[in-house]
Amino acid sequence: MSISKRGIFDAAQSIEGILQIDSKRLEAALSLDARTARIEVQILLQTLLNVNRAYVLTYSERVLSDDELSRYTGLRDRRLQGEPIAYILGEREFYGLNFRVTSATLIPRPDTELLVELALQQISQRGLCRVLDMGTGSGAIALSIAHVRPNADVVAVDASKAALLVASENILRLNLSNVRLLQSDWFAALAGEHFDLIVSNPPYIEMDDVHLKLGDVRFEPLSALASGADGLDDIRRILRDAKNHLKAGGWLMFEHGYDQALRVRQLMQQAGFTNVTSARDLSGIERVTRGHA
Ligand SMILES: C[S@@+](CC[C@H](N)C(=O)[O-])C[C@H]1O[C@@H](n2cnc3c(N)ncnc32)[C@H](O)[C@@H]1O
Repeated sequence: MSISKRGIFDAAQSIEGILQIDSKRLEAALSLDARTARIEVQILLQTLLNVNRAYVLTYSERVLSDDELSRYTGLRDRRLQGEPIAYILGEREFYGLNFRVTSATLIPRPDTELLVELALQQISQRGLCRVLDMGTGSGAIALSIAHVRPNADVVAVDASKAALLVASENILRLNLSNVRLLQSDWFAALAGEHFDLIVSNPPYIEMDDVHLKLGDVRFEPLSALASGADGLDDIRRILRDAKNHLKAGGWLMFEHGYDQALRVRQLMQQAGFTNVTSARDLSGIERVTRGHA
């Protein structure tokens, strides 16, 4: 540790000193394992100093200035209060792209990359394909699809104006010209529009699920998460109109909860979809259910 002219106090202001002390604080406050806590402190320091991980490891004796320390303390205290690291940093990586996120948007989850993979399998690399993403949030799904398939014409809707502002920032960041955003209560603003593929990661958590009050989730918008007593209200609402907005032979794909696959398959079949199947995520959980119009 560094002992500068300001004496032993600087040890606690060095990168390594902060890593040691604050990892323990985060571990205790958020019940994180030691490794995760240390990585989070590292990330906060990287963000504050605008450096990469190699810098933090190489210059572990560097002492933060008083101004840097005070700004770092602000970030750390937000994390100690439980605010998700993605909101503190203002971004989250999804499908290899960096998305701006705010408290108006869900933080994109790695699980949702399965929905993007399955969607991309349905979109050939040539020819126009009209894709609709319902409940786009930060735009994670719609923009990932649009980025990989420049030939796709993607429409992304959300009821939240604040979320759409974030999605529009992400369109600029990623320099995409094939995505159109629309504020809409599901299909309300889409009269007369037809798509080859509709994808959605809608709210699907049961209203009284205890997880809504735990961890990162309690900082995310409830309107992005909860959907009635059984978590399926929004899926039912989307299914009411989905066939009217799909071209013949088009596909509809939902992400849903770990225990909802059977129920979602039944709802899709009742709504007249055929070839209804569920796909498993990397943990072996049925995570996406899709069907043919
Ligand atoms: C689970 S989040 C998904 C966000 C993003 N697609 C993702 O995967 O990270 C659900 C999204 O649906 C939006 N939403 C909720 N109710 C809606 C409605 N009635 N019409 C349109 N969007 C709605 C929420 O605002 C939220 O952005």
